Amino acid sequence: MASELTQAASPRVSVIVPTYNERENLPTLVEAVDAQLSAEYDYEIVVVDDDSPDETWYVAESLSEDYPVTVVRRRDEFGLSTAVMRGFETANGSLLVVMDADLQHPPSAIPSLLAAFDDRIDLVIGSRYIQGGSVGEFSLARRVLSRGANILATVIFPQTRGINDLQSGFFAVRQDVIEGADLAPEGYKIILEILIKCEYDQVIEVGYEFRQRVAGESKLGLGTIITYLRHLLEMANDSGRSGQFLRFCIVGIVGTLINVGLFYFLLRNDTFYLLAGVVAAETSVVANFSLNTLWTFRSEHDGTLASIAGPFVKDHLVRSVGIGLNLGTLFLLTGSFGLSEIVGQACGIVVAILWNFTGNTHLVWYR
Ligand code: GDD
Ligand code: MN
Repeated sequence: MASELTQAASPRVSVIVPTYNERENLPTLVEAVDAQLSAEYDYEIVVVDDDSPDETWYVAESLSEDYPVTVVRRRDEFGLSTAVMRGFETANGSLLVVMDADLQHPPSAIPSLLAAFDDRIDLVIGSRYIQGGSVGEFSLARRVLSRGANILATVIFPQTRGINDLQSGFFAVRQDVIEGADLAPEGYKIILEILIKCEYDQVIEVGYEFRQRVAGESKLGLGTIITYLRHLLEMANDSGRSGQFLRFCIVGIVGTLINVGLFYFLLRNDTFYLLAGVVAAETSVVANFSLNTLWTFRSEHDGTLASIAGPFVKDHLVRSVGIGLNLGTLFLLTGSFGLSEIVGQACGIVVAILWNFTGNTHLVWYR
């Protein structure tokens, strides 16, 4: 009875540590994790090593004599994400922590991740971009990459809205959120997979300081970036987002033809040009909206007036901002940077399309 109570108070924690050539870092990490968790939690460390040439697996096996360390030495598979997946399968805990072996994720931050869980929270992301977090001595290039990757993901997936550090490799998640989910993460982006494919209640971020690597070297390179982009594209395809974008563009072309055609027709019939412009523009907005409602976003509403009226108004607002962005881009490129009007307007249209689509998926049709 007493032991049941203790278990309820502090869940079993599994700390999953993927490793590749981390023999110098692992002992320090295991000691530090033990110092943070052993008093308060029933915990284990699951080291998933890809048969490292420096024999990290051997170091891990030696550590398992003194600490609750389980070692998976993989020879059949390779890569950070699948290593973490293997860790998920091997772990026994009800809370799973994922962290790097190189001490860039400070073990002293683990208790704050775990303490953040309450009944409604299913995922706690260690974040470098909120209060209490920092990227430490990141190069400018890496800062830009990290932020750019975040923005790109947020544009495609509304589920990730409000989360500042989607690139984080440091997080804690309830085991039952992962269980049964069909995760196929590529490269380094496990958080993104979880956010898009799992069912969960609330997600929060807890700040931590990304430290300098202690020993050894980073495995992140150009290949990682390409893998990330491919991964985003694949997830966009899986979730139907690319198809939506294509349909949105086709509808946009139809709307433009209606706009130009009607404008021309009204002018020919002696309508004042500004009035013709307003009528043509509004007609094309309504036509765009109708086609998108019937086709592009047909799965996002139930066909009732009530489910379409709100989006109708919001779509108008989004598109007015779109016109502003179009003209703003034109003015900036042509007026200030001296590019030709055609180039300025072409860029303006691209900016407006991207904005209109993002607005439609994130604001107009996002419940
Ligand atoms: N098993 C296994 N297999 N482990 C790997 C592999 C692999 O192919 N590649 C890397 N690891 C391990 C490393 O040994 C380390 O423990 C951890 O994964 C992170 O690898 P690093 O090479 O140190 O990554 P990083 O510091 O460049 O990137 C970190 O920060 C990124 C955010 O800027 C990671 O935490 C990323 O997940 C994170 O996105
Ligand atoms: Mn690292």
